[in-house]
Amino acid sequence: MTTSILVTGGTGTLGRAVVAHLRETGHQPLVMSRRPGPDHVVADLLTGDGVDAALDGVDVVINCATTLSGKKDVIATRTLVDAVRRAGCRHLVHVSIVGIDRIRFGYYNGKLASEELVRAVPHTILRATQFHDLLRKIFSVLAKLPVVFVPDVRFQPVDVRDVAVRLVELAMGPPLGRAADFGGPEVRDAVDLARSHFGGKRRIVPIRLPGKAFRALREGFNLTPEHADGKITFEEHA
Ligand SMILES: NC(=O)c1ccc[n+]([C@@H]2O[C@H](COP(=O)([O-])OP(=O)(O)OC[C@H]3O[C@@H](n4cnc5c(N)ncnc54)[C@H](OP(=O)(O)O)[C@@H]3O)[C@@H](O)[C@H]2O)c1
Repeated sequence: MTTSILVTGGTGTLGRAVVAHLRETGHQPLVMSRRPGPDHVVADLLTGDGVDAALDGVDVVINCATTLSGKKDVIATRTLVDAVRRAGCRHLVHVSIVGIDRIRFGYYNGKLASEELVRAVPHTILRATQFHDLLRKIFSVLAKLPVVFVPDVRFQPVDVRDVAVRLVELAMGPPLGRAADFGGPEVRDAVDLARSHFGGKRRIVPIRLPGKAFRALREGFNLTPEHADGKITFEEHA
């Protein structure tokens, strides 16, 4: 019997890699999106429109959908979890972020509350470190000033293709609850990553940002060196 798999957020940075890996490994995933497209089921996790229909007959959901606001993320996750329960799906695989219980950003608070909601159905939660794409996006924004000021923190960036392989592996197995965290292959200073990103073309100045969240980052709660399972380095991602 074939497994029917739905990837929410299948048009996003991680979701696209998950959909691509599922296709490469012989699956025909459905993609939840707010916009029509090939293999798309159109639904909106904030309004609830189309969500029950999208989950009809689905065995496994890989949840890569997110909004930029922690509060909206909680609403979207609640809508998804309720629909997963009604549809009787076998497994909800949910992507989260390493260290969200120790680092107090508003978005992270929403991710933590979402993890609690997910526990109401058969689930696996995978917390990953920051994606290479995110760091490159942040560096591009910081580059708008003549000097690039980079916080004195470390990251263990991971490639979404590596995370996608792990998510698909988890999706094919039984619900595990919280899976082991998943990190990139190297822990690096943000300044060092920025130098690599700009290839020596920009002046980079480390700065210390105030606040508890940045202190938690300096303490390394966003890292999981014991799970440096991703293979693709920041430079290989370029
Ligand atoms: N970025 C990182 O460094 C990082 C690290 C660890 C974990 N994560 C987690 O990984 C997951 C994916 O992140 P990402 O960076 O790949 O996200 P992304 O590129 O911003 O993609 C977001 C996706 O969510 C969908 N979406 C947004 N609002 C929706 C709504 N109301 N209803 C249905 N779908 C909606 C979008 O689909 P449409 O626009 O097509 O509707 C899009 O496919 C998130 O849970 C994030 O917290 C991210």
